[in-house]
Amino acid sequence: MTASALIPAAGRGERLGRGANKVFATVAGRPILAHTLSVFESGAAVEEIILVVGEREVETAGDLVGRFGFAKVRDVVVGGAHRQDSVRRGLEKVSSNIVAIHDAARPLVTAQIIEQSIAEARRDGACIAAIPVIDTVKSASSEALVTETLDRGNLFAVQTPQTFRTDLIRRAYERAYADGFYATDDAALVERIGENVRVVSGSPDNIKITTPADLQFASVKLGGGETRTGVGLDVHALVEGRKLVLGGVEIDFEKGLAGHSDADVVLHAIADACLGAAALGDIGTHFPDTDPAYKDISSLKLLAQVAQMLSEQGWQVVNVDVVVVCQRPKIAGHVPEMIRGISQCIGAEPSRVSVKATTTEHLGFAGRGEGIACYAIATVARP
Ligand code: CTP
Ligand code: MG
Repeated sequence: MTASALIPAAGRGERLGRGANKVFATVAGRPILAHTLSVFESGAAVEEIILVVGEREVETAGDLVGRFGFAKVRDVVVGGAHRQDSVRRGLEKVSSNIVAIHDAARPLVTAQIIEQSIAEARRDGACIAAIPVIDTVKSASSEALVTETLDRGNLFAVQTPQTFRTDLIRRAYERAYADGFYATDDAALVERIGENVRVVSGSPDNIKITTPADLQFASVKLGGGETRTGVGLDVHALVEGRKLVLGGVEIDFEKGLAGHSDADVVLHAIADACLGAAALGDIGTHFPDTDPAYKDISSLKLLAQVAQMLSEQGWQVVNVDVVVVCQRPKIAGHVPEMIRGISQCIGAEPSRVSVKATTTEHLGFAGRGEGIACYAIATVARP
């Protein structure tokens, strides 16, 4: 015998101030709602999830459920003006005899809290996750004069899940609506019909994301940021009558690299590694060699555009490492200048950029001086 989870997610997130429903905001690489649903999806205690969202969010929510493969989501229901109205609509769809009602905005709930709540509700009918109040709590008059100091020993800060026998919470909701009664949590409706509500241990981490500071806390707890790595490789032929440009530096040599742009294999490999890390395609698609706009263009400009594309998606380059495969000329003396240009271009400190070169002992096309190759690897991160 398992339970249903009812997840109200139909708020507007006004206090977060993003002008959009906060549960779709990304934290640690996933929407808050996805973090919350995944806790309920993974445990064995819950067999179905009823998700309640805003009128215009049904499709977005359906996409999210599909994208993350939340197989337990049985219904996506349209909510109401107040949280209580949203829960009421969700309750109509619940099919188990136990229901755990949990704010979508609390992604740090744990399987343990959920399981304990369900067990308790099964035994006693109604329970809330809560933690003892840490601060002393007083009441004060409208003139800001203290009227009473409450006994902290009896006080709890209430969270969700709030878990109930389904028939009991439905009865409580019917009575509340018959009387036009609204409260800020579900248990209050059960309390007012004279039924017991038990307290189970919540967690200080199980916050309801409400303000920007809460987002930061959740992002640290849910894994900080996202880090990715990409690889790039480029090869160009050495021909007469062309300038040799490597890593943005013009090098005095009897030949240069053939190509549509300045054919800078080093910057091209770096650009591809960066694009690869962010899964944004490759330079061939962004800067086609059939486009006259890129004829003889400095590849520093192309790399700067790549850096801009990454930054628009929130990515910052963590580090870049390259190996230039080149028999002649000697590269080492030009490396500091290359690093300066590359680091400026990608917006990373010079200590995060590494350029080195190798010969191939006269083997292969590079060894015979027919061309130059470059391998690059880039790591990017976003909060
Ligand atoms: N909620 C809901 N329907 C509403 C209002 C709120 O389903 N009409 C949900 C929210 O999406 C959230 C939970 O109830 O998961 C707790 O509400 P709250 O933290 O107040 O979220 P918002 O109402 O979105 O935020 P705010 O009050 O700052 O606008
Ligand atoms: Mg609200």
